[in-house]
Amino acid sequence: MTDRPGKAAIVEKPRTERVAEALEAEGVYDPSRRIEAYDADRVALPVTRRPTEIDVEAVVALELSVRERGLADVLRSRGVPEHVVEAAPSSWAVIGNVVLVDFGDVSVEGTLDRDARETVGEALLEVHGDADTVLARGGISGTRRDPAGEVVAGSGDTETVHTEHGIEYALDLSETMFSPGNKAERARMGDVVSTGERVFDMFAGIGYFSLPMARAGASVTAAEIDPTSHRRLVENARRNGVTGNVHALLGDCRTVETTADRVVMGYYEAHEYLGTALDALVSGGIVHLHEATPDAMFPDRPLGRLRDAAAAAGRTVDVFDARRVKSHSAGVVHGVVDAHIE
Ligand SMILES: C[S@@+](CC[C@H](N)C(=O)[O-])C[C@H]1O[C@@H](n2cnc3c(N)ncnc32)[C@H](O)[C@@H]1O
Repeated sequence: MTDRPGKAAIVEKPRTERVAEALEAEGVYDPSRRIEAYDADRVALPVTRRPTEIDVEAVVALELSVRERGLADVLRSRGVPEHVVEAAPSSWAVIGNVVLVDFGDVSVEGTLDRDARETVGEALLEVHGDADTVLARGGISGTRRDPAGEVVAGSGDTETVHTEHGIEYALDLSETMFSPGNKAERARMGDVVSTGERVFDMFAGIGYFSLPMARAGASVTAAEIDPTSHRRLVENARRNGVTGNVHALLGDCRTVETTADRVVMGYYEAHEYLGTALDALVSGGIVHLHEATPDAMFPDRPLGRLRDAAAAAGRTVDVFDARRVKSHSAGVVHGVVDAHIE
């Protein structure tokens, strides 16, 4: 946030709201800057000139911080019709230099049409000065979790480097998914692992979990079936200086023979691969089983699946955590079950 000099009207705190309204009505209120405390009893309201229609204690030259303009402010300042402002998305993700936004299905009545999406996209580029492309998020489909998406504004360059918890993830958002909602889980995987631990990341993607774990000192066997994601996984291991800790394999995790103290199963259909996970896991090892589960069935369904698979392998399960990572879709949660397998 930058500061710039300007004028401020000083008033007693209890008068703040009333004076602000009067300043606005007179057309002297400066909405581009913030109201701030002046001292213990008084506030400073940003004004463009001395008001004449309401009494204020003083008008002083003061640097008040500049208010970051939100999407609605930018749209309104561009004269965009109010129905577009109202229908514009209220949240989005910034992945590297790309703004990822969900406009909903364009064919559904009430959602913004293509022209309006472009208008909103351009306003988003103004809100996020460092971003250069706005990508409308489509669905994510198929075994390889391919994202569908459409560039609505900006240069159209969807290749970027996203930095999170000090880790750089290079990716092209038009070809590889990146789930902002999994941020805490990515951090958690780096926190729970110990130096020298052997990890099997069965669905590694571009290194979402493998990289934080490798950086924490684990020795990670990272399987990825999709060549594009695998290539990024290798690139990202290099980029983050952890090539020695990431053994990146291109192919189906079911063909990997490895021994692990911990298995990460970051894929919504992961339960179908529990046999492979249990084969790799040492006694007393830990499994993190992800699943997209109807809300009412979490955590019972993944727990049941884990217990069934363990029983079939003659092993026992001690579940020590089950948590909701994010909402997956209406009524469906992305959850994770953590368990020791004896
Ligand atoms: C959901 S994505 C990765 C999600 C990631 N863990 C996250 O939290 O954002 C799942 C990945 O598993 C990969 N995959 C699917 N089936 C696989 C298999 N049988 N063996 C290895 N990788 C697989 C997909 O290509 C995809 O990159």
